Amino acid sequence: MRDSNPDPFASKERLTTLIAQDEIARRVRELGAEISRDYREGDLVLLSVLKGSFMFLADLVRTIDVPLTVDFMRVRSYGSRTETSGVVEITADLTAPVQGKHVLFVEDIVDTGLTMAYLVDNIRTRRPLDVRICSLLHKPARKLVETRIDYLGFTIPDRFVVGYGLDYGEKFRNLPYIGTIEDEPPG
Ligand code: IMP
Repeated sequence: MRDSNPDPFASKERLTTLIAQDEIARRVRELGAEISRDYREGDLVLLSVLKGSFMFLADLVRTIDVPLTVDFMRVRSYGSRTETSGVVEITADLTAPVQGKHVLFVEDIVDTGLTMAYLVDNIRTRRPLDVRICSLLHKPARKLVETRIDYLGFTIPDRFVVGYGLDYGEKFRNLPYIGTIEDEPPG
């Protein structure tokens, strides 16, 4: 799963591949097939949490063969560049009501679980038929609240990851794979 990768995207940080592009593509297809089987009855809304999930969403929707709509929420979590504080603010809300719909959150990563806990509670107040979570990545080592992830891509170790939509200070979202970054040692 890991190989050292002299990368054209790298600046001063060193990137190591954690999950390769073809592994992601294979797993996304499997998740899409599972979701298609489970939501035959329709009224499915994929709710993407920006910005990190944009690439996962774009690939995932193309593997789902039941009718669906897509909507977006944008959130800001307060904290440092790599740690969330659990204080979440919705900075852009849905464009349509989800009452009476099957809501499926599409997330890039569940880390502490605080963002998803907040958003699931928030969406439940809008009376959807049900709410489930699809997350590409899960970092269980940092769990602060229990999160039931109904469709999970990969469980990863406690490392800060970038690529495939995920950023470090807004950089690296365009990497086609998931990598870990290490700062170059000084000098
Ligand atoms: P949580 O609330 O701690 O579960 O964190 C959720 C959000 O933090 C994710 O949607 C990401 O935007 C961000 N995040 C957590 N871990 C990472 C990481 O390893 N790389 C990039 N972003 C991360």
